[in-house]
Amino acid sequence: MSAPLRVAVLVGSTREGRFAPVVTQWLTGHLGQRDDMRADVVDLTETPLPTVLPAFGQEPEPAASQALGLVTPRLAAADAFVFVTPEYNHSFPAALKNAIDWHNQQWHGKPIAFVSYGGLSGGLRAVEQLRVVMAELNAMTIRNTVSFHNAYAAFGPDGRVDDPAVEGAAKAMLDQLAWWGHALRDAKSARPYAA
Ligand SMILES: Cc1cc2nc3c(=O)[nH]c(=O)nc-3n(C[C@H](O)[C@H](O)[C@H](O)COP(=O)(O)O)c2cc1C
Repeated sequence: MSAPLRVAVLVGSTREGRFAPVVTQWLTGHLGQRDDMRADVVDLTETPLPTVLPAFGQEPEPAASQALGLVTPRLAAADAFVFVTPEYNHSFPAALKNAIDWHNQQWHGKPIAFVSYGGLSGGLRAVEQLRVVMAELNAMTIRNTVSFHNAYAAFGPDGRVDDPAVEGAAKAMLDQLAWWGHALRDAKSARPYAA
């Protein structure tokens, strides 16, 4: 039995009054039931990142380095990711793109699953755009997703989702993430990822 996968859950929304915690807690509830995964929730409201990138070849400013110090090591340590993302104007939030752009090799050779939410589209357009972005960063995006359409109505007051189809979708997605997470972790231990 190999060590559990370290799964960083990256929370995409930093909006005041956001719905993101409801979706994130639903996800961490599922991750907590698995022996093969350990979750680390990276919430960009708790560890905000600056939005000004350094010039090419320059180190970040001290304040930026300090902020990155609370995020970067956790992304680096992750074997796999789940992005929790809403849809904003047919895409994903700027805070999430900012966190992605601050990093590079931390994404390499790692699988990423998506839990999305929004209005009628359930955040699927955000996810499709994220697939393109993360391919540029040598990450492997998982086919199956969980998407919450009309998200506010999908969760009960206790944060639970009373829908067997959603439970099945979550299991399928996390099983795929586990397969890719183990496969890529094993591969990198045999041969460092070369991008
Ligand atoms: C700036 C903005 C743009 C949005 N654009 C869309 C959209 O294009 N499609 C959609 O289905 N929902 C859209 N929504 C609705 C959000 O997906 C929904 O309110 C979701 O709960 C936002 O996530 P959050 O509350 O965690 O920030 C938008 C919301 C905001 C704030």
